Amino acid sequence: MTAGTILVDTREELAGLLSEARTAGRRVGLVPTMGALHDGHASLMREARAQVGEGPVVASIFVNPMQFAPGEDLDRYPRTLGADLEVCSAEGVDVVFAPAVDEVYPGGEPEITVDPGPLATVLEGASRPTHFRGVLTVVAKLFGLVRADVAVFGQKDFQQLTLVRRMVADLCMGVDVVGARTVREPDGLAMSSRNRNLDPEQRRRAVALHHALVEARDAARWGVDVALEAARAEMRQAHGVDLDYLVIRAADLTELPDDVPEGTAGRVLVAARVGDTRLIDNMPITLGATRAPAGRGDS
Ligand code: PAF
Repeated sequence: MTAGTILVDTREELAGLLSEARTAGRRVGLVPTMGALHDGHASLMREARAQVGEGPVVASIFVNPMQFAPGEDLDRYPRTLGADLEVCSAEGVDVVFAPAVDEVYPGGEPEITVDPGPLATVLEGASRPTHFRGVLTVVAKLFGLVRADVAVFGQKDFQQLTLVRRMVADLCMGVDVVGARTVREPDGLAMSSRNRNLDPEQRRRAVALHHALVEARDAARWGVDVALEAARAEMRQAHGVDLDYLVIRAADLTELPDDVPEGTAGRVLVAARVGDTRLIDNMPITLGATRAPAGRGDS
């Protein structure tokens, strides 16, 4: 690849830039983003570099209309291309692919889209029923356009990561999907492009999501119900934070059985609205077998 970060906005330019590396047998890495890049994205780029070595790292920057329902924050979603390019350049990204909507969806929304299956109807999908169809469709397109060997996604969007993995497995896409750890602010708030929509008071309150996850993690050895109750107690104390869901699932996001064996790997996930901003976060947990008395179930 040529030294320095190259910005392209067409499929042809992208293919032209990557063909040489591909012919040379180098692995191509992709970091799909919607821009408004922060340190969390930078860590995805570093992970992509670690995965492909000398091969090209491509970061896509595309605010995908298909994953926003009418009335969601598509128009409000921050667009900061100049600053994003600086992040990509500092992280040694070779190619930034920042297409216009028509370039990705010539002729409008495609007739054939990815059906994300039952996992897309719960958690985020319960309040955003069309969201993951849009996400998986654009991710499939990006995989096709970049012909990536490896793609890096953040664990912060854990349901998205799980669904991408599932799509790649079920549709035999042949892309290695790497889930990178969530990067947090010093107080624990997960980094997110949407954090910049919070005013100072909302920002202070938003850390409640992280505190709730930590409570769940620390109580997890006493079982699912105790862990959930500990996390809920934390959320009840948080003023101005409107809880959407707080659940514990298996590590692959399937429902846990009634009798959870000691040492089961699980995931605690939370979503809440702070002002007009919807935030999500999650954390891996290790569950103990002990269960609290009945009546304090999941919701
Ligand atoms: O996580 C995101 O930023 C988006 O959902 C993605 C994966 C780039 C698809 O638009």
